[in-house]
Amino acid sequence: MTPILELRNVTKTFGGGAFSRKQTVALDNVSFSIPSDRPTMTALAGESGSGKTTLSRLLLGVTAPSAGQVLYNGQDMKHMSRAQRKAFLRDVQPIYQDPFGVYNPFYRADHLLYAAVSKFKLAATPAEGQRLVAEALETVGLRPDEVLGRFPHQLSGGQRQRVMVARALLLRPRVIMADEPVSMVDASLRATILESLRTLNRDLGISILYVTHDLTTAYQICENILVMYRGAIVEAGSVEKVIRDPKHPYTQLLVESIPQMRAVRNWEREEEEPTLASLDEARESAGCKFASRCPAVMEQCWQQAPALYSVDPDRAAKCFLYEGQPVLQNADVAEAFSA
Ligand SMILES: Nc1ncnc2c1ncn2[C@@H]1O[C@H](COP(=O)(O)OP(=O)(O)OP(=O)(O)O)[C@@H](O)[C@H]1O
Ligand SMILES: [Mg+2]
Repeated sequence: MTPILELRNVTKTFGGGAFSRKQTVALDNVSFSIPSDRPTMTALAGESGSGKTTLSRLLLGVTAPSAGQVLYNGQDMKHMSRAQRKAFLRDVQPIYQDPFGVYNPFYRADHLLYAAVSKFKLAATPAEGQRLVAEALETVGLRPDEVLGRFPHQLSGGQRQRVMVARALLLRPRVIMADEPVSMVDASLRATILESLRTLNRDLGISILYVTHDLTTAYQICENILVMYRGAIVEAGSVEKVIRDPKHPYTQLLVESIPQMRAVRNWEREEEEPTLASLDEARESAGCKFASRCPAVMEQCWQQAPALYSVDPDRAAKCFLYEGQPVLQNADVAEAFSA
């Protein structure tokens, strides 16, 4: 079955142009897919700068890979026809951390909703369009009269966020990329928004990639999780297994830090930001990227990068501790890292 979205051996580097000597490798040979035959709910976790947003932007087609391919229904996004592009733009919808950026400040907030109705011809008459918009707003817990006719700056962050969810609802996409959708809202609203994501997944069959620092909410709402470290997926599997019994030493550290720290805001504060020089050193060295921080580091970890081992049937980890287990070959990696 062809996945709806796939990254095939994708590397994404930034910089290294005329004015900067250093390149940042945001993603390093990542393969990953979102299946087309069932709705999935997958968390993409990892510390700040690990490449989560870059991965989701590649899947949204707003950034191009430096190497490798991004495919929509098996078609390289670089070579989509007009019709494929149009279907893609409807099928794959973003919900961002701070949706303020996507609003034009001179349009009223509902413009975003009516523009979607007309662009994708969702309604036969204006009255039907209004009914669809009102329904979508009510589904995300907004009263239409709270929102309609207001400019973006007249709405709260949480209201803007929910207008984005309502837009996603209107379009009935196949996939939603939700990048830190609740990091700017208070706890009660967080629950409402996460609950509406779950509804989109369960009742409407939409696959959701939930990008987050927060393993607690990932555990609450997702089935699967991918853990990223410095541009690579280091562990993937069911959320139940990965969080209850993490195999990769990096995931183990992350999970240990949950009770004290709850959300990852704290990890960022506690951890020293790696300097660019040390990042580049780690990247240039041939070994495992996590070696310098790994409590279980072994001699060979400095010499070469570990393969991706199949630790148990629905889980994989990139770590020499599992040497001896079956090694996943390139073709299986996207499958193993499927959402
Ligand atoms: N447009 C850009 N130009 C240069 N470097 C970039 C750009 N976008 C991302 N990067 C770099 O790529 C790396 C990965 O960034 P990315 O935004 O994907 O991380 P993230 O996991 O989403 O982090 P966070 O949790 O803080 O949102 C970082 O080192 C970042 O500085
Ligand atoms: Mg990000």
